[in-house]
Amino acid sequence: MQSIQRVLGSLSTYRWTSLGALVSLLLLTIANAVTPQLFRWGIDQGISKKNLEIVLISAGWMVVTAIARGLFNFGQSYLAEAASQGVAYDLRNKIFSKIQNLSFSYHDQAQTSQLLTRVTSDIEQIRTFVSTSLIQVIGGVVTLVSIAVILLAMSWKLALITLTVVPITGWLMARFVTRNNKLFRQVQEQLSDLNAVLQENLIGIRVVKAFVRESTERSRYTTLNDALIKANMKTISGIRDTFPFIFLLSNLVTLAVFGYGGVEVVGGRFSIGELVAFNSYLALILQPIVLIGFAAPAIAQSAASAERVYEVVDAEIEIRDRPNAIPFHTCGGRITFENVSFRYPGAATEALKEVSFETKPNELIAVLGMTGSGKSTIMNLIARFYDVTRGAIRIDGRDVRDFSLKSLRSRIGIVFQETTLFSGTIRENIAYAKPNASLEEVIRVAKTAQIHDFIISLPNGYETIVGERGVGLSGGQKQRIAIARTLLTDYSILILDDSTSAVDAKTAAQIQAELDGLMRQKACTTFVVAQRISTIKNADRIFLIDKGRLVAQGTHEELMQTSPLYGVILESQVKQKENK
Ligand SMILES: Nc1ncnc2c1ncn2[C@@H]1O[C@H](COP(=O)(O)OP(=O)(O)O)[C@@H](O)[C@H]1O
Ligand SMILES: [Mg+2]
Repeated sequence: MQSIQRVLGSLSTYRWTSLGALVSLLLLTIANAVTPQLFRWGIDQGISKKNLEIVLISAGWMVVTAIARGLFNFGQSYLAEAASQGVAYDLRNKIFSKIQNLSFSYHDQAQTSQLLTRVTSDIEQIRTFVSTSLIQVIGGVVTLVSIAVILLAMSWKLALITLTVVPITGWLMARFVTRNNKLFRQVQEQLSDLNAVLQENLIGIRVVKAFVRESTERSRYTTLNDALIKANMKTISGIRDTFPFIFLLSNLVTLAVFGYGGVEVVGGRFSIGELVAFNSYLALILQPIVLIGFAAPAIAQSAASAERVYEVVDAEIEIRDRPNAIPFHTCGGRITFENVSFRYPGAATEALKEVSFETKPNELIAVLGMTGSGKSTIMNLIARFYDVTRGAIRIDGRDVRDFSLKSLRSRIGIVFQETTLFSGTIRENIAYAKPNASLEEVIRVAKTAQIHDFIISLPNGYETIVGERGVGLSGGQKQRIAIARTLLTDYSILILDDSTSAVDAKTAAQIQAELDGLMRQKACTTFVVAQRISTIKNADRIFLIDKGRLVAQGTHEELMQTSPLYGVILESQVKQKENK
């Protein structure tokens, strides 16, 4: 219920719209309450007394109130809808920018499909709550109270008979909601699970087909779909065994009013008009009870959804600016690791252990090690995608945690091991970090990355649309576009993490040759996770990483002589690729 309160709080941004909806709702209730009185007046003073004028006047007023009801009804639902759209809009933006700000460690553990369900179905649930359930409850309560007062004023005995239905239904509803609360959350979770399988299959459809796992995947999906429908049916059966009671009650009350009221009319203590009016109020009083009843499960469901949405909104951002973060301007080229140890959140062992080194200005460092030895982890720590567990990383003597993240990361050009492209043109992808780059600039970096010739061979050249995640390009082509994308940025530290793994040896050597000059003039320090002998021979220094430790460093010749492990790793990691 706390989360529902927060949703209500978020309405304050749309206070005038919400207030308008509330006023329309009140006016609607008044118009509803007036109508039976017009009936009473028309029957008792007009029809019974054969006074045509009063019949016509009351009919005329009834038309007026009918029109007013239509107007207020429209106003109320339009404004409530507008406010709900606003709340959903804000929440969507909030959760999206939160997802952007959350650290790598959050995304390592979060399930994409869970996040997707929260942004789509959970927020929609909250929106429906604001636009429909909330109005039903407020309108229901206002109607109940005002009509109860009118009924009591008209005939307190008859009113008491009628009103017994209210606490009984209220109790039935409350029981229903508390019983099904858990079930509603479960339904949302199951929807997430279902989406997870769907999403995995959409992304991995090629793998599914290659391994002929279509039927297994289909049955996996169907099993979850079955579970979802079962959970949904459970909630429906909850609704089923509550609502017939309420309808039965309302029917009994109608009969009681007819019986007792009829006796009173025959005895002359109650007029026909009053009985007709009373009966109309009866319909009015039962309607909100049923509406609140329908709203109750929706509210329980929205509360569960709101909880899930706020879970993300409130998630802690682990990597953030320190209070007095300073901008990262120029780089002198001295990057220092001081006894850096690092353990991934939730991991049992440390990925890096006591790593220490210092780079010199304009140095080109090749990093070599077996897969899983910790090369990418070192790169991730420099850009502060994670913070060190122990020790410190400094740039020109300053702890990286002192810099503002934005300035630090925008001066580090990093090409990740895994290439991600966005749907759009090739030019847009290269200019991702610098959207207003001129075509000349884009072409220049594409030439450096050895991808220009390929791009101009395409019918649409730089304007060729690449599919989602770069579908339509080979792995090596994607990697080269990713390199070009990074080269276009304003980096002063360059990190290339296994970024030519899918490029053939000759092209990789060309990229290397092109980069060499560039790196030494533009970047103050360059790290290249190396798989090629040419890169290694070219480097000023080689860092040899083994099981999270920096075990040796030096030039190729030095390491060949001093480190037996170097030869082994060189053999396993590098040679075979050269032969390909
Ligand atoms: N996001 C992560 N969460 C938990 N453990 C990780 C994560 N990324 C890498 N690791 C682990 O850290 C170790 C080093 O990984 P990594 O730096 O990627 O190696 P390399 O780049 O040398 O192949 C490996 O044991 C790997 O399983
Ligand atoms: Mg790696």
